[in-house]
Amino acid sequence: MTTPTHPEPPAGRLAIFPGSFDPLTNGHVDIILRSTHLFERVVVAVLLNAEKQPLFTPDERVVIIGEVFREYPNIEIETFDGLLVEYARRRRASAIVRGIRAVSDFEYEFQMALMNRHLEPTLETVFMMPAEQYTYLSSRLIKEVFSLGGDVRGLVPSAVEKAMHEKKGVKSH
Ligand code: PNS
Repeated sequence: MTTPTHPEPPAGRLAIFPGSFDPLTNGHVDIILRSTHLFERVVVAVLLNAEKQPLFTPDERVVIIGEVFREYPNIEIETFDGLLVEYARRRRASAIVRGIRAVSDFEYEFQMALMNRHLEPTLETVFMMPAEQYTYLSSRLIKEVFSLGGDVRGLVPSAVEKAMHEKKGVKSH
């Protein structure tokens, strides 16, 4: 039997959904809500200092994502730094949740999942698929389309769209 046993069974399964979330898209929202059906608690963990020129600071992202999930006491948002497996260990998480949109996502995700398993054998990675209409969505494309004047309504939560407009307003002055 090669499956590692957990040191002690956690009370109420907690999953971590890590990422940059610059910005949060409706694809992320879809995965987060799906993961609440599998886990008692879900932590949306925003990686600190991932991008050199982010649209939103990590703290701004935490506030915006918090607004989106205001009515979900089982969804928590915070920043993390350093190794994901260390953070997951500190939070006593059962699993890491990652969204897979297409086969092209798979290779990178597979590498990360196996490296994380090498570092922490008791931590599982759970891959989830978003609804089909979100398979082409990415934070990078959202930023590009928005910066060129494209409409991102329906692709990001309204709180995100509002914050993007506010940011644009601030930048253009
Ligand atoms: O949304 P993203 O940017 O694709 O998320 C990537 C993320 C945050 C999951 C990944 O970069 C990460 O886990 N970073 C933390 C540092 C770490 O543990 N690196 C080793 C991963 S195998």
